[in-house]
Amino acid sequence: MKINKFVLGAAALAIAAGCAGAAGGLTDSLRADADISAAAVNELYETSRTALMAGYQQGDNPIAAEYASWEGTATGPAAPGVHSKRYMMTYVNTVGHSEYIKYSSQNPTMPIGTKIAKESFTVKGEGEFRPGPLFTMEKVSADEAPDTNGWLYARVNTNGRPMRTSQKFCHSCHEAFSTQDSLGYPVRQVRLDYVAPVAGAPVASVAVGDAAKGKEVFETCASCHQVGPDAQNAFGPVLNGIVGRDAGSYAGYSYSAGLKAAREKGLVWDEQRLFEWLEDPSQFLKTYLEDDSASANMPIGFADEDTRNNVIAYLATVSGEN
Ligand code: HEC
Ligand code: HEC
Repeated sequence: MKINKFVLGAAALAIAAGCAGAAGGLTDSLRADADISAAAVNELYETSRTALMAGYQQGDNPIAAEYASWEGTATGPAAPGVHSKRYMMTYVNTVGHSEYIKYSSQNPTMPIGTKIAKESFTVKGEGEFRPGPLFTMEKVSADEAPDTNGWLYARVNTNGRPMRTSQKFCHSCHEAFSTQDSLGYPVRQVRLDYVAPVAGAPVASVAVGDAAKGKEVFETCASCHQVGPDAQNAFGPVLNGIVGRDAGSYAGYSYSAGLKAAREKGLVWDEQRLFEWLEDPSQFLKTYLEDDSASANMPIGFADEDTRNNVIAYLATVSGEN
């Protein structure tokens, strides 16, 4: 099976930057390390945070010196991304906090003077806390930072020393969040406004999407999925005729245990189910199977509702014969 460049590229970059994810936000488990629960991570973080901050404050970075009093943007640290074991927790100053915690994907404009500090750490074994760098962003005027959408990026080592940071490198990822003022936001499950989906609850009906726009969205999917008469299984299965198809049923593709279980339970991909799956595949399987340990192999989710509706409208036009 061909492992796609997209996956390797994003994972390698994420490790290099300590900033996991890709556009839309990777949405796997919040527990980077299966040996330790989210509650245990929160507790470890509470007891280690003072020392973590003291480390960053040994140097002269102004954000490191200032951010102790800022408000957090998540219910606790999370480790987004399937291959990253780095936990992160983001704080924003009063200038930008209320705007940030809307987590808007409708072209928000963060006010000039917004400053953001993202702590990072890893957990070894069953609970050894290892500090990671502090990542910062500051919103200045567009003239001051014309190539990076008005953002200045920086990175501070655990001992307070500045780390060499290329604006271009940081922005290469952040610019993909083009409808979010270049912000990645924490994974959904730790956002302050997150409400866990209830199994079997009725969901708002799916709006009809725009297939032409959905074709553009599909370019993102195409790094893992093929469609059309010559389509082959790749990192993901062929998606011809997916609307109305039995889940986990494309011949010759090796599905995850979770998707196989969903097929056995009778899952059919209608528009509603696709809409839910695309938001967060692993969360979808957990809810559908009523099993918190279920997970999907599709390592990306799409928060934006229009994006999902449009790509579903496009997929409805793709039978494989045309
Ligand atoms: C591989 C892609 C990638 C690269 C490269 C990257 N980031 Fe990020 N960054 C993200 C993602 C995804 C998030 C949101 C996930 C999270 O913070 O939990 C994020 C979040 C942040 C945040 C919190 C604000 C926000 O966007 O929600 C800061 C601050 C940040 N990054 C700084 C940096 C700096 C400084 C660099 C360069 C040293 C950098 N990033 C490079 C992907 C990247
Ligand atoms: C980074 C690779 C990747 C990207 C990008 C990706 N997928 Fe997937 N997708 C997968 C993998 C891997 C699976 C198999 C999941 C499993 O077995 O748990 C999958 C499964 C699916 C399924 C279930 C198929 C079936 O036969 O039951 C659908 C539907 C789907 N993806 C749609 C999409 C759409 C639409 C997009 C773009 C909006 C997309 N995917 C983007 C990797 C990806």
